Amino acid sequence: MSDVYNKAVELAKRRGIFWPSYEIYGGIAGLYDIGPVGTMIKNKIVSLWRKYFVESTMGMVVEVETPMITPEKVFEASGHLKNFTDPVVQCSKCKKVFRADHLVEEILHKNVESLSPSQLDSVIKENGIKCPSCGGDLGEVRYFNLLFETTIGPYTGERGFLRPETAQGMFTAFKRVFESYRQRLPLGIAQIGRVARNEISPRQGLVRMREFSIMEVEFFMDPKETDVPLADLENDKVKILRAQTKEAGREELDIFTVKELVSEKVVVHPWMAYWMAKASRFVNSLGINEFFFEEKLPQERAHYSKQTFDQIAIVGGEKVEISGHAYRGDYDLSGHSRISGQDLTVFKKYDTPQIVKKKTVVINKQKISSLKDVGKEIMKKISGLTAEQIEELIRQDFRVDSVPISSVVSITEREEKVNGEKFFPHVVEPSFGVERSLYLVVVNSYKEKKDRIILSLPKDIAPYDVAVFPLLEREEIIKKAKEIRDLLQAKYTVLYDESGSIGKRYARADEIGIPFDITVDPQSLDDASVTIRDRDTWEQSRVKVDSLVCSLEKLFNGTKLNNIGEKADNNE
Ligand code: ATP
Ligand code: GLY
Repeated sequence: MSDVYNKAVELAKRRGIFWPSYEIYGGIAGLYDIGPVGTMIKNKIVSLWRKYFVESTMGMVVEVETPMITPEKVFEASGHLKNFTDPVVQCSKCKKVFRADHLVEEILHKNVESLSPSQLDSVIKENGIKCPSCGGDLGEVRYFNLLFETTIGPYTGERGFLRPETAQGMFTAFKRVFESYRQRLPLGIAQIGRVARNEISPRQGLVRMREFSIMEVEFFMDPKETDVPLADLENDKVKILRAQTKEAGREELDIFTVKELVSEKVVVHPWMAYWMAKASRFVNSLGINEFFFEEKLPQERAHYSKQTFDQIAIVGGEKVEISGHAYRGDYDLSGHSRISGQDLTVFKKYDTPQIVKKKTVVINKQKISSLKDVGKEIMKKISGLTAEQIEELIRQDFRVDSVPISSVVSITEREEKVNGEKFFPHVVEPSFGVERSLYLVVVNSYKEKKDRIILSLPKDIAPYDVAVFPLLEREEIIKKAKEIRDLLQAKYTVLYDESGSIGKRYARADEIGIPFDITVDPQSLDDASVTIRDRDTWEQSRVKVDSLVCSLEKLFNGTKLNNIGEKADNNE
């Protein structure tokens, strides 16, 4: 990771944003605490996500919470027991374990995500790749399952796992939500929750954790309904690295409007375009403006996905996946139906009943029994076959002991009125990592100015909206400053701080990204005015306390500080 990542990590530790968990015991790779300031930023990121993915969806999406602990059957149905694996390789000398594809990628600088363990083995041998730690020979590449296993209940309790994604809770609860909410599609079920993945060698800070939070929507829809309300999203532009471009060995990005993603069939279903557009707006609102969607090749996709786009953010010169967009089709619902024995289809009523032709089998029972053993043999042959299959046997003049089955079995066709059909809804899934988003936001907002650090967070996700400082430790000034804190607290999150020099307090506020500092000084006592200082420009304006709330409102709506109040001297 580049220099700015290291600097951001240092800042994060110093300012209570995040740090390695269990530090006093030496820490555990892939586990991180989110500190007080980090939690405030994280909560704002989550709120913003909710705004884009739940609240602004015209009631299509509802939120639920389901457990982390999951019985084995669920992951049998979802395919995770078999497929949630990554390739590992162990050093035969020092016994260190590495993620095989990442090790090869780091050394050869090429993408080998889609290679099988035996192909990775060959690449390792052909290129003479050794253990990066001790130079020893590497063993055979094997698959390792990333699920954390546990036992539900004491002693011989049931085998269970911690979920690696929140998704399965939404699939298993689908029928309940569908019936209790609006009983029609499309229906999105959102969840924000903890997940655990026993990642092989997590080394990239909050990018690869072993326990983290995920924000995802399982969006259930009728695949035949392609009339998607793209509305104001349709002219948004998105950059795409297409699978066909990658297959041709190139990396250039194509730009499409959201409408074109649909009309040019870049996406397998218009709802994919809808959620990619939402994800683009959300990531922009985090202040991350450089990103693209990378279409995964079939062998790079998760087992359940028919099409996947990873949203790749470019932050601090590095490309990092911030969200995944998978077309899961009916993989999960049909899997859970099969394993649980429950019917997880929905019924679609036709606008007008349709007449369908239905074939039925007519058996001449009298004749069958008169044929004795041959009759039994014929019954055995046709049992379990559909009318169409039997019709085919008749057409082929199938016989048992030279008795044609057509002499005892015939097919008739009649018309039936049907009111609708049952089907498994298909699912589109946008999925964001919370802590990974937090990390990318912190790195992306990290700025240095005159040897000082500014965390230039978008106002919506700053931990506090404003800081209130008394310039001096004088009783009347402190009293006034506290009055202002109380006044603002009704509407804003406020940090009040009276300790240390004003310069230090401004620096601290800048480092955690507070957009505006309000300072009460001796002049405040004379003319009921305060200064407002801008985090990024360090400019200050003086405004009357009476108009402070209104001034802040303007600032939060985008008015520049130099258009507000009177320019004030910098009192640092
Ligand atoms: P990667 O390819 O980076 O392993 P993935 O494709 O397995 O990720 P998804 O299963 O699509 O990731 O998970 C959705 C999102 O969850 C990712 O886009 C990322 O933001 C986040 N995420 C995934 N794995 C981790 C992890 N180990 N630590 C932190 N966040 C993660
Ligand atoms: N969403 C990633 C997985 O659990 O397979």
